[in-house]
Amino acid sequence: MIAAYGIPVTRVERSKLHDIPLENIPFGKYFTDHMLEADYENGEWKNIEIKPYQPLLLSPSVAALHYGQAIFEGIKAYKDKEGNPFIFRPVDNYKRFNLSAERMQMPTVPRELFVEGMRQLIDLDKNWIPEKDDHSLYIRPFMFSSDELIGVRPSDTYKFMIILSPTGPYYVAPMRIYVEEHYSRAAPGGIGYAKAAGNYGASMLVTAEAKKKGYDQVLWTDALEHKYVQEIGTMNVFFIIGDKAITPDLTQGTILAGVTRESAVTLLEEMGYKVEERKISIDELVEAYQAGSLNEVFGTGTAATISLIKELRYKDFVMNFDVSKWEAAPELKKRLNDIRQSKVIDKHGWMYKV
Ligand code: COI
Repeated sequence: MIAAYGIPVTRVERSKLHDIPLENIPFGKYFTDHMLEADYENGEWKNIEIKPYQPLLLSPSVAALHYGQAIFEGIKAYKDKEGNPFIFRPVDNYKRFNLSAERMQMPTVPRELFVEGMRQLIDLDKNWIPEKDDHSLYIRPFMFSSDELIGVRPSDTYKFMIILSPTGPYYVAPMRIYVEEHYSRAAPGGIGYAKAAGNYGASMLVTAEAKKKGYDQVLWTDALEHKYVQEIGTMNVFFIIGDKAITPDLTQGTILAGVTRESAVTLLEEMGYKVEERKISIDELVEAYQAGSLNEVFGTGTAATISLIKELRYKDFVMNFDVSKWEAAPELKKRLNDIRQSKVIDKHGWMYKV
């Protein structure tokens, strides 16, 4: 247990909480009073502490700033009716974090530091968890290489941190999506499955170009043929075709193994859908749309939760959807929210008590 590390806590003198309205808050703009910080040096994690949220003092030569050896996670905390805080599936994110770390040649983080450190931090800042629907406390663990050296090699030192942000919905309205055929997000053998900072940095130009054309995000296609769909923006993607829910499989290592994706697979099966995780070509989607069987398209993600897609554009072919008639995505969202807000019994053991 992390108690053995004895995480020292320095508390703020005055909480900022009362200066920030916990309603209608934009995603990721405000941060709570405290943060967790730890350093990796000489093969071990040390200097573990919880302290007031504050800027970092970094040398301009810090390796992460130059070569992007940096990874992160996104997790959410909620309160039940009695006000008890819970974290949604932190152990799954912990496992994914360490997979990202291995791919980026970074040290793994012990479970006690990641999960128990997060629990203690949230316990301290639990009053920051918003109670409004579609609101939550977004948890951002991250790690970056901290050697002061601009030679290209893995660092000997790393910093691991957790910050917390009370937050509202990431995507507010149903989205218009552009099927991307020129740029690629990930190729087999690359870092698509890792939550590496560079994956997001590389998406900005592409998203900006889609925005100029009037779209909110892109649907990434495979790097080799631009034929098979991968993810939408920062989300995994699901298609309801007839009575099936279909989502791209993870076998190529090009897609992030979303914790919300995995939860959606489980819940959709419970809702009676036959879930298929497999390759999906854009041609199959167009054919299903023309045949009238492509009923719903939605994204899943920690930040995005379940986000409805009202338009999909492939070349000059536009697929429009009347989201008001949908059944699967709204029901899925409700079931997920009911579990997160502890309105129903958590039979999957997804809620981690703080
Ligand atoms: C998340 O869903 O937690 C993400 O990582 C998306 C984020 C980049 C906003």
